[in-house]
Amino acid sequence: MKVGVLVSGRGSNLQALINAYNEGKIKGEIALVISDNPQAYAIERCKRHGIEYAVVERREFKSKLEFESRMVELLKEKGVELVVLAGFMRVLSGEFLKAFPMRVINIHPSLIPAFQGLHAQRQALEYGAKLTGCTVHFVSEELDNGPVIVQACVPVLPQDTEESLSQRILEFEHKILPQAVKWISEGRVEVEGRRVVVRGATYGTLPVNPQLEDFL
Ligand code: GRF
Repeated sequence: MKVGVLVSGRGSNLQALINAYNEGKIKGEIALVISDNPQAYAIERCKRHGIEYAVVERREFKSKLEFESRMVELLKEKGVELVVLAGFMRVLSGEFLKAFPMRVINIHPSLIPAFQGLHAQRQALEYGAKLTGCTVHFVSEELDNGPVIVQACVPVLPQDTEESLSQRILEFEHKILPQAVKWISEGRVEVEGRRVVVRGATYGTLPVNPQLEDFL
């Protein structure tokens, strides 16, 4: 499967995908990376790994529709079948989503439906949640709210700062994003309403809450 990745910044999730392809864990290729930010460090990663990229800036276009059409055009030209939002800081319209029906996925740093939107890690900390994590989900027109493909959870520790919690979550983002892309590339993912079923996936239980140490 040919995959397109949309980024706006650091690109550590893009790097996790690049590594998974290079290690042969996912079949297919990253056919194109699009950044809406010319300064994004993600672009350096593309250069280093010989991955095709394009910069498409919102300000170059009169409307959001034209901006998105240009991205769709570039992705279609490359034969992209799955679009991965990996730290892409814009909300895509229904028009973009129609070009790739149920083929746009996003990584979000919380356990959806908790803490949607920006600064999800800070939200979890301020709320006083004891567990949080990350989610890969199909993108729907509602922000951070499409059918969930895979989630991982991590504890929120008493001494956590936004940075330390983000780092703990990020480690798992780098595992679940390649996992979701692999499953979809293998044609194993089916969506029934809000429920996503992965054929042949094995599920284990994880003792994730250290506050239960007396009971685990
Ligand atoms: C990640 O925390 C991701 O969950 C969120 O934006 C951040 C992007 O990080 N959507 P990176 O650019 O992949 O390093």
